[in-house]
Amino acid sequence: MTGGLINVADFERVAAERLEAGVLGYFAGGAGDEVTLGDNVAAWRRWRLRPRMLAGVSEVRTATEVLGAVVSMPLLVAPIAYQRLVDEDGEVGMARAAADAGTVMCLSTLATARPSEVAAGAPAGRRWFQLYRFRDEGVTRALMDEAIESGFEAIVITVDAPRGGRRERDLRAGFEIPAEVGVPSVQAALGVDRAVTIEETFALMDPALGWSDLEDLASECEVPVLVKGVLTGEDAALAVEHGAAGVLVSNHGGRQLDCVLASADALPEVVDAVGGRGAVLVDGGVRRGTDVAVALALGADAVLVGRPALWGLAVGGERGARRVLGLLRDELELALALCGCSSPAELTRAHVQRAPAAP
Ligand code: FNR
Ligand code: LAC
Repeated sequence: MTGGLINVADFERVAAERLEAGVLGYFAGGAGDEVTLGDNVAAWRRWRLRPRMLAGVSEVRTATEVLGAVVSMPLLVAPIAYQRLVDEDGEVGMARAAADAGTVMCLSTLATARPSEVAAGAPAGRRWFQLYRFRDEGVTRALMDEAIESGFEAIVITVDAPRGGRRERDLRAGFEIPAEVGVPSVQAALGVDRAVTIEETFALMDPALGWSDLEDLASECEVPVLVKGVLTGEDAALAVEHGAAGVLVSNHGGRQLDCVLASADALPEVVDAVGGRGAVLVDGGVRRGTDVAVALALGADAVLVGRPALWGLAVGGERGARRVLGLLRDELELALALCGCSSPAELTRAHVQRAPAAP
């Protein structure tokens, strides 16, 4: 079913043909005029690679370490809410695909499967849990506890959503998450047995979240805490100074504040500000192995992909997501070899330069 599809763009096109318009708008769309949504993809392409020759690349490995553990490649799966909207296996299928690909899946707080269910469905896989902090401390704690007890190895706290972004595709389509698509862990933590709308969920989150809360969370948490949604060197430095094990440079796939920097453009200042004191991950607009190579050359430890994996899931379920991850791994391996690098760690800033301005 996915045999003729040879790159992420092919999966995106077929997913767009298959998904119902409102659902497609939710997954594909961004905030406002979608300036940042488009720029995320474009910004990686404003760099050019500087490959080195005669480097002896008979053995090229994409495997690397992230947060002290090995992954098959520096490409992980970003948290995406409501995955059962595109495939009946939803997050369990995605987790199996990531496990098969030898990489980490980050599960959203707004997942349509509970952390325990995802762990049971993909026991061999490595998993992180994306946390939205709720106003009610008990709800937040219950969500974290379930994830940590289920073997999730890191908490990724998302800090760019004190309010939901204004997604105009959803407004025009009148799109709402269908009532039958619940978020079982949030419902359980809230003690309700009906689906909670996305607006209701955002309204339950804590807009007062501040740096001292991060420090408390990081010091109490049994697993490393990553801060997702950082776009400036200032915040990246604050994050590591307040106990974070690292930061994830992200603008939420262009879905929160429009007209912010593309993540590729924010990455260099974050790498400089963190200065080796923690991990630097990045997501947004990664669609090719060469985009991953640029991110690594700019100093990222790894990238995450959101929509590409989701398009895979939408087109072919678990197999489709696995195929997308495999394609990206193969593209990265080829890019490494052609850059003269035997491993991801060999890519440095000397391997990239700004693309010359168009005439
Ligand atoms: C997201 N993202 C997201 N992030 C998060 O922290 N929690 C979440 O529940 C979600 N949900 C979500 C839903 C949908 C439909 C999308 C497209 C994105 C953001 C996600 O983790 C990631 O930052 C971006 O998707 C990365 O950009 P690309 O790879 O999609 O371009
Ligand atoms: C989104 C939320 C759920 O981007 O993070 O739709």
